[in-house]
Amino acid sequence: MANKTDPIAVFDSGMGGISVLKEMAALMPQEDFIYFGDSLHAPYGTKTTEEVRRLTIEHITMLIKEHHAKAIAVACNTATSAAVRILREMYPEVPLVGVEPAIKPAVFDCQHPRVLVMATPVTLKEKKFHNLEALYHDRAEIYPLPCPGLMEFVEQGVLDGEELKNFLIEKITPYLDKKLTGVVLGCTHYPFVRKEIRTIVGPNVKLFDGSFGTARELKRRIAEANLKREDGHRGAVTFMNSSEDRSKLELSRFLFTQDISDVS
Ligand code: DGL
Repeated sequence: MANKTDPIAVFDSGMGGISVLKEMAALMPQEDFIYFGDSLHAPYGTKTTEEVRRLTIEHITMLIKEHHAKAIAVACNTATSAAVRILREMYPEVPLVGVEPAIKPAVFDCQHPRVLVMATPVTLKEKKFHNLEALYHDRAEIYPLPCPGLMEFVEQGVLDGEELKNFLIEKITPYLDKKLTGVVLGCTHYPFVRKEIRTIVGPNVKLFDGSFGTARELKRRIAEANLKREDGHRGAVTFMNSSEDRSKLELSRFLFTQDISDVS
């Protein structure tokens, strides 16, 4: 039986979920959080779906059983596509949210939406994404753009600079003549390179990510399960990482302090 004073666990293949954690910690300052990044096995986005599912289930189970997480955020689009349905069946009593590319707000933002969806190869090939795309394909032009190699910059703490800029230019430039109205950051690592993406697409294209919506949904689910902490506590964040490289924890703390809001 979970307690109100137990922590909320936030999971990602590496550092990306910290972009979601930032929103959650701001929205629920009274809660303690454990952030677990699986940098040892990252990237997930170029593995098989079965491998991503196995790793995600293993780590979420550890967070529930060993760390007594009262609620779970799968702060990874890739892991969500591969495992969230099974996790809900395995742990029906635990409030659990996933993330998915924020296509809906990008589509409803304007009259003739032309939306680039940047995400990992696994996210874009999974059924969850195809279902989402099918919901909106008669209202919008949707261009899926797999970005293998992009999360690695964030995992190394590289958030700007020539090499990253060139990578993004090569990926995004072919779509600029589509007169994009929006870009969906469909991987939780990508908000950390938002400023570089913004310089390529210019000031008039909107950038969308699902972090705030996911944080709000988790808050709602925790309240519904009567697990909201109410003892006047000031929440803290504990970072954990599967990698033995201790610099990953330093990088996690650094990323948590970064301003990743939009600059258009
Ligand atoms: N952060 C992850 C996501 O949101 C994926 C990065 C990866 O491991 O490839 O999809």
